[in-house]
Amino acid sequence: MTATLIDGKAFAASVRERVATHVARIKEAQGVTPGLAVVLVGDDPASEVYVRSKGKQTVEVGMHSYEHKLPADTSEADLLALIEQLNSDKAVHGILVQLPLPKHLNESLVINAIDPAKDVDGFHISNVGLLGTGQKSMVPCTPLGCLMMLRDHLGELSGKTAVVIGRSNIVGKPMAQLLLGDSCTVTIAHSRTKDLAEVVKRADIVVAAVGRPNFVQGGWIKPGATVIDVGINRIPAPEKGEGKTRLVGDVDFEAVKEVAGAITPVPGGVGPMTIACLLANTLTACCRKHG
Ligand code: GUN
Repeated sequence: MTATLIDGKAFAASVRERVATHVARIKEAQGVTPGLAVVLVGDDPASEVYVRSKGKQTVEVGMHSYEHKLPADTSEADLLALIEQLNSDKAVHGILVQLPLPKHLNESLVINAIDPAKDVDGFHISNVGLLGTGQKSMVPCTPLGCLMMLRDHLGELSGKTAVVIGRSNIVGKPMAQLLLGDSCTVTIAHSRTKDLAEVVKRADIVVAAVGRPNFVQGGWIKPGATVIDVGINRIPAPEKGEGKTRLVGDVDFEAVKEVAGAITPVPGGVGPMTIACLLANTLTACCRKHG
């Protein structure tokens, strides 16, 4: 059996198209342009690539993009002052502080300083609590993108058995909450889970978010299961030449695709959906304020 490929790149393009249509409508009807502020502290090259890509796509869907690049030695007080300024700026509907922050900055203090209504990452403790209690909240972009792909591919998720591998605050925990919200029977597995292969084997839906290259094996997968690979791991690729690297997910793609019913590739699966959902969240924040 060879799995169907879930094309995150094409799906993300369709999400961006829908967002662009709504942005045009809100501009026309209300004279308001949604605005997203992205704050980057320091010069981590991977973060710089992400931030550039976010800014470009924000503009492409017709929104305003405000980039704030601060030096690596920025003080907590200065960063909090910028967040306060963005909280009260009427042109800014969404605020994202790129993580990780330099070590001297208290990440949860900074995140919780963002107005929860502008917290397009869904990381503020109020949004975490609202999601956990099934109330209207801002939902973290990566798990939201995974949920959208699952709903699109499977239709109704109710009653399905789901295993989320990984318990991070950014992906694993909110992913489990979202699947529970869609009435799945959810297990969160992690590095201490016993008999992981047996646990995964029960799942109709597997979401892998462990950060370990090619971790999920073909033999762990229930035939026909839907497998969402959140991992983005850079590994050496000597076959491409000396010093070359390539991206792989948390799932052993070649083996799992022979057993699964559907699978997301890496790259081109979950990754593009994350930024598309960030744009959708910014539009949502703007609509909740002006709609
Ligand atoms: N760094 C890596 N992924 C993310 C994300 O989704 N949001 C933020 N703020 N930082 C990140």
